[in-house]
Amino acid sequence: MPKHELILLKNMMQPGYTGSLQDYERAGGYQALRKVVGKAQPAEVTAMVMKSGLRGRGGAGFPTGVKWGFLPKGYVGPRYLCCNADESEPGTFKDRQLIERDPHQILEGILLACYAIGAETAYIYIRGEFVLGAKILEQAIAEARTAGYIGANILGAGITANVWVHRGAGAYICGEETALLESLEGKRGLPRVKPPFPATHGLYNKPTVVNNVETLANLPHIVGRGPEWFASIGSPPKSTGTRVFCVSGHVKRPGNYEVPMGVTFRELIYEQAGGLRSDKLLKAFIPGGASAPFLTPNHLDVKLDFESVAAAGSMLGSGGVTVMEEGTDMVWAALRLMEFFYHESCGKCSPCREGSSWLVQTMRRIVAKRGRMEDLETLVDLCKNIEGRTVCAFGDASVAPIMSTLKYWRPEYVALIQEAEAANLIKLEPAGARH
Ligand SMILES: Cc1cc2nc3c(=O)[nH]c(=O)nc-3n(C[C@H](O)[C@H](O)[C@H](O)COP(=O)(O)O)c2cc1C
Repeated sequence: MPKHELILLKNMMQPGYTGSLQDYERAGGYQALRKVVGKAQPAEVTAMVMKSGLRGRGGAGFPTGVKWGFLPKGYVGPRYLCCNADESEPGTFKDRQLIERDPHQILEGILLACYAIGAETAYIYIRGEFVLGAKILEQAIAEARTAGYIGANILGAGITANVWVHRGAGAYICGEETALLESLEGKRGLPRVKPPFPATHGLYNKPTVVNNVETLANLPHIVGRGPEWFASIGSPPKSTGTRVFCVSGHVKRPGNYEVPMGVTFRELIYEQAGGLRSDKLLKAFIPGGASAPFLTPNHLDVKLDFESVAAAGSMLGSGGVTVMEEGTDMVWAALRLMEFFYHESCGKCSPCREGSSWLVQTMRRIVAKRGRMEDLETLVDLCKNIEGRTVCAFGDASVAPIMSTLKYWRPEYVALIQEAEAANLIKLEPAGARH
């Protein structure tokens, strides 16, 4: 029996639940769509979402209803909804579970969003590696189409809503909303300079909303149970609802845990995920995917809500919580993540393209015990020349592992360099001088 009421993971936890249309309807699915399509004004649905306080679950935490409100009023012509199912952030695997185990929950959310913003076409941009998820979504779309939830004249209300699955080719940058749009248009996935924002100039230069899978999966519940109910869960008024946190690393029970926002990291790591795997002490954790600065055991009582994690110097990001036990080599951990960012840098902005390469080279030198004390200054200098100087947030994200490990575990960097210096001194000494 889970300690907290499950919302998004509830259906899939029921014995025998397959995620089929029949199972979803039996669990009350598509009732929220039936409640509003042709019965409530689209603006009323947007108002509900605003009132619920729902904020994006893709990383930035932007208020969903407010984002929808940026679409131009009275615009005549196509507008689009894109469901961001790229989920490439290291340590993040919640969208995959939502897709594979309860696809209709997402489809109902997509259809509600389409209704609210007046979009007749929605695309689900799914990362290429999610082969199973893409198949499951295609099957669910076919079921929903046959049942009259998707297509022309949905639920006989004269409204058209089509949903298509688009598979990416496996680039992390394509999760960034404007790179996603470029990729969807058939171009190379490079982020666009903003403004203009997708709300006015999005897919094919038309008004577009990009929302994360988990964000959209919340909509049937907000519409079905009411925005007041949703707004009362979590840490109101700024962090409402639950979040599905992906706990990985050195814990006894890695996995996805849905908890109301505002529980502490201590509860998530020690109660939900069973604590450290070998009962060693906790050394570090990343609170919100690889882009979020590392935190320490001193932050265990920080609440898992947007404001509290920001006040602690990090971010809730994508909800990926990676736990590291005592004994973890923090310089190596930072290098490992830096290698990921270096590999995934799209190359559009020179500070990120060139800087990530220099960061990796410098970090590799330190880990290989060939570093110099001045490398630490070089690292900080390189990071500062990337931060805030790129078109998208990738640049800021890429420096988080190095900056935060330097902040909390600088002595580990220094020890490696001192070992390197000692070895060099020994090498430089003339033969026999050591005796
Ligand atoms: C480098 C980079 C990668 C991103 N990857 C994802 C992703 O895989 N999934 C996602 O939903 N958002 C991702 N985002 C955030 C999106 O740009 C965007 O903010 C989000 O899809 C908006 O949805 P939301 O408002 O529902 O959170 C990424 C952002 C950056 C800068």
